[in-house]
Amino acid sequence: MDLFEKVSNNMGPLGQFADQGFGYFYFPKLEGAISNRMYFRGKPVLVWSLNNYLGLANHPEVRKIDTEASEEFGLAAPMGARMMSGQSKYHQQLEQELAAFENKEAAYLLNFGYMGMVSIIDSLLDRHDVVVYDSESHACILDGLRLHIGKRFVFPHNDLDRFESQIKHARKVADETGGGILVITEGVFGMPGDLGNLKGILQFKDKYGFRLLVDDAHGFGTMGSTGAGTSQEQQVMDGVDIYFGTFAKAMAGIGAFVASEKRIIKALTFNMRSQIFAKSLPMPMVIGSLKRLDLIRTHPELREKLWVIVKALQTGLREKGFNIGKTQSPVTPVFLQGGAIEATQIIADLRENYGIFCSMVIYPVVPKGIIMLRLIPTAAHTLEDVAITIDAFSDVRKKLDEGKYTLGRIPDFADKF
Ligand SMILES: Cc1ncc(COP(=O)(O)O)c(C=O)c1O
Repeated sequence: MDLFEKVSNNMGPLGQFADQGFGYFYFPKLEGAISNRMYFRGKPVLVWSLNNYLGLANHPEVRKIDTEASEEFGLAAPMGARMMSGQSKYHQQLEQELAAFENKEAAYLLNFGYMGMVSIIDSLLDRHDVVVYDSESHACILDGLRLHIGKRFVFPHNDLDRFESQIKHARKVADETGGGILVITEGVFGMPGDLGNLKGILQFKDKYGFRLLVDDAHGFGTMGSTGAGTSQEQQVMDGVDIYFGTFAKAMAGIGAFVASEKRIIKALTFNMRSQIFAKSLPMPMVIGSLKRLDLIRTHPELREKLWVIVKALQTGLREKGFNIGKTQSPVTPVFLQGGAIEATQIIADLRENYGIFCSMVIYPVVPKGIIMLRLIPTAAHTLEDVAITIDAFSDVRKKLDEGKYTLGRIPDFADKF
């Protein structure tokens, strides 16, 4: 069999629909400045699908510093990996400020959160070590675990009873191999929006002996009294041994960081292959992140505004009888009944007739027969946006209940690949 023939005949779970939705359901082009109002295929839309939680993407001070830093350094500097030639005083300053913000001894920057997480896991573990992790962990955690050749135990999402039975197994194995135990979960789970039960997990720490790694991609900047994240929200900052945050969401940038004890950051710095063998973050992004972090620290009103919008949207949807699951964070899923055919018609109706742009998730990410529309409220939204959206969703649900999404096939909006 020719390899190219095999690959092009089997596009995988996402690629199988490529021809039906490219440029519309997949790879849509949102145009205009990043905000609550943008353009899709030339038409204005109210956007609910960007993780620009604090509205920093277009904050005037952020835009200014990004521009000034680009003018001064260009996008190339510093060249090379951190270890070889890509070090700068700004990278180090950002690390110190992030560590202080997270109340940890040290931090290290990661050029992408995804790659960073893969290498954090890879660097911490050898074949004697045992991992216990939440079943709904992000792809970066699962892909990091693919590199782990020792034992692993998964527990059903946030199920503490099953967690305990798995950690018991892990303890037994680790005692036999002489290895350590790493528990991995998330702060905010990015699809359902519920929080990892960090506090609950930590109750077992003394009894079973493990280290806890938390991916707080969606919690960093949005959760906790100062925005330090879900560990702060649950008052367990010290119990979380390794904290991971990305700049791709509340910071509206690119890059990420890991924070922990100094000896661990030192070990990671010299072992994370995705960082040792890849280019350092560009200077404008690092200097821009210093400004973003400063705004998070000094402008709590951005987070307060975010939460006003979150509360209005989530309360409003609940009052109208929508099922928004167990979210405890800004991430707002709206669950409806139907399959891919209804889901795509709903999305098209929202975009074409109501000017509302949100994302949808269907099987296999959620169970068969469930449609999840995912809304991301931000500080850039208004209460009027919330009201318009709840009205539109009520209309759409009515049409769904009346069987009006009857096209019988996925609507064809595809651009040519
Ligand atoms: C839970 C979680 N972890 C990690 C990442 C990866 O972060 P980055 O975009 O910085 O690679 C994401 C972002 O998609 C995420 O949602």
